[in-house]
Amino acid sequence: MSEKKSSKENNDSAVLSGDGFSINLPLLKGSLGPDVIDIRSLYKDTGKFTFDSGFTSTASCESQITFIDGDEGVLLHRGYSIEELAENGDYLEVCYLLLNSELPSKSELESFKKSITYHTMIHDQMTDFFKGFRRAAHPMAVMCGVVGALSAFYHDSLDIDDPQHRLISAHRLVAKMPTISAMAYKFSVGQPFIYPSNKLDYVSNFLHMMFSVPGEHFEQNQILTKAMSRIFILHADHEQNASTSTVRLAGSSGANPFACIAAGIASLWGPAHGGANEAVLKMLNQIGSVKNIKEYIDKAKDKNDPFRLMGFGHRVYKNYDPRATALKESAHEVLNSLGVENEPFLELALKLEEIALNDSYFQDRKLFPNVDFYSGIILKAMGFPSSMFTVLFALARTVGWIAHWTEMIEDPNQKIGRPRQLYTGSMRRKYSDISDR
Ligand code: CMC
Repeated sequence: MSEKKSSKENNDSAVLSGDGFSINLPLLKGSLGPDVIDIRSLYKDTGKFTFDSGFTSTASCESQITFIDGDEGVLLHRGYSIEELAENGDYLEVCYLLLNSELPSKSELESFKKSITYHTMIHDQMTDFFKGFRRAAHPMAVMCGVVGALSAFYHDSLDIDDPQHRLISAHRLVAKMPTISAMAYKFSVGQPFIYPSNKLDYVSNFLHMMFSVPGEHFEQNQILTKAMSRIFILHADHEQNASTSTVRLAGSSGANPFACIAAGIASLWGPAHGGANEAVLKMLNQIGSVKNIKEYIDKAKDKNDPFRLMGFGHRVYKNYDPRATALKESAHEVLNSLGVENEPFLELALKLEEIALNDSYFQDRKLFPNVDFYSGIILKAMGFPSSMFTVLFALARTVGWIAHWTEMIEDPNQKIGRPRQLYTGSMRRKYSDISDR
């Protein structure tokens, strides 16, 4: 089967031919990025499917939220570069941008912040729900359960066809994720839950709920608050990654937003996705010292060894992940502020990065550090246990998930997602009685 782009005269279609058929497929143009061949009529017109199990060449939807140019290392939210947003923005401003397409005016931001602030508490009965988990449960397991359970508590915002319900659910999710995350942590360490404080901004409130204890005054450190805000901004959205696609697929059946975000959390948990930040720290621990780096680089290159350099490589970025560049800067700032500039993990990470970037295996495959490479070092220095790293990713990514969910629900052409398959199982055969098997 051969596929070729159409001639200049017919520059808005592509021809797909082979095996007794030839079909003209429309070429769709986005505002940025490669053209997309529209194959929606392929099965109807030819009786054939396409095969792309890892979605390496397939656009699963049309979207106006985030753009990535992986070859150039570009990430834009609603057209604004991640570098500018991370440098100047405030996390809730970025949330507003993702949810509403435009940066807010002063008054729009004030009223958005007010709405988020007044939705930070969770239904008091939910605290009992936490207590049903085993103390040693991973906080991501707790998150999956508790976020899914929000749909059992907030019946008044579950009508997905009502724009006001969608808006309230979106605000509730953004507002309650820090509370739920901090509660998952407090439960795991046996400390009392700390209620949100409405006089604090979003990030300071989260740090307060995480690190306050009733007997002590918790002092906010502005450098750490700024670094946390930057981590949240850098994780806010990343177009059609595995977890966002999971949220869209779950939502395409009409499931409620809380259930869909719980599905996204489950997908994020894996080490190839959001779980990589926790895996990076485990890996640095395992490597232990600069003198062992070569052994681990060799293991990463060995096809018979399952070991991979965690925090390296990305499906889309074939260049330095712009989020990693920003986090590398924050890692220095945070460690400096805490007086631990010589933190051995940072030294190890910097050396590992230098060696990998100069190794032809990583160069040939365009494997660069990704967002997870430096985030764990910062979070560890701030006092977060590594089991919380992916929880923080989920907290920050919730706004991206809900922005995509909303975009999908509001798309008049939205259909239930239903991929097909290349079946390679048994041919039809006769059922045999158990006594004959
Ligand atoms: N260490 C060693 N080799 C690697 C790595 C790595 N981290 N990543 C990719 N490769 C090799 C891979 O073995 C393959 O080699 P070959 O062509 O010889 O078979 C080649 O590079 C291409 O890899 P791939 O698995 O086909 O690429 P992918 O797009 O399917 O996987 C990835 C992307 C992120 C899952 C992968 O790079 C990986 O497992 N990285 C480590 C986990 C990680 O850091 N994940 C966080 C991703 S960023 C945050 C997020 O989006 O959640």
